[in-house]
Amino acid sequence: MSVVVLYGTETGNAEECAIEISRVMGEVAPVDVHDMSDYSPQQLLASGAGTVVVVTATHGEGELAGGGVRFFDALLAMSARLEGVRFMVFGLGDSYYTTYNRASEIVVEQMSALGATQLGATFRYDASSGDDPEELAGEWAREMRAVIAASVAS
Ligand SMILES: Cc1cc2nc3c(=O)[nH]c(=O)nc-3n(C[C@H](O)[C@H](O)[C@H](O)COP(=O)(O)O)c2cc1C
Repeated sequence: MSVVVLYGTETGNAEECAIEISRVMGEVAPVDVHDMSDYSPQQLLASGAGTVVVVTATHGEGELAGGGVRFFDALLAMSARLEGVRFMVFGLGDSYYTTYNRASEIVVEQMSALGATQLGATFRYDASSGDDPEELAGEWAREMRAVIAASVAS
């Protein structure tokens, strides 16, 4: 089964990370990448994807960036059931904020509430570290490659 990578961004970092994650994971599985601003829960369900990777920055006061709020609100409103779906989360935030990486926690809460199962631990990128998010995203995706390969095979 295929992998869908969804990202929510305000200033582009999450998009760069999502593209890098898609490139690396694409070495072991068919991967589609979408901005949550122009992708609907209906499209996700119709895709039949068994594994979903959510790459989201936290913005505002601890909210999902970009189209993430609308996407997850719509997913919850549909009462979609995602029992067979596995998901991974790569969060981007800044420990300067008290709501550090809150969006990644919201994604875990909401995907879990819909019945999906998380694979691996949530990755939390901290902008205050000065690290390059795209580089860390590539490393994380390489670490997760075996998990992805097993997930798409089952
Ligand atoms: C206006 C603004 C609000 C932010 N709010 C938060 C926040 O509440 N929590 C957090 O962890 N990071 C917060 N951040 C940091 C961003 O999540 C971080 O810079 C991230 O790399 C941005 O990713 P993006 O380019 O994909 O939007 C905020 C950044 C900005 C500019």
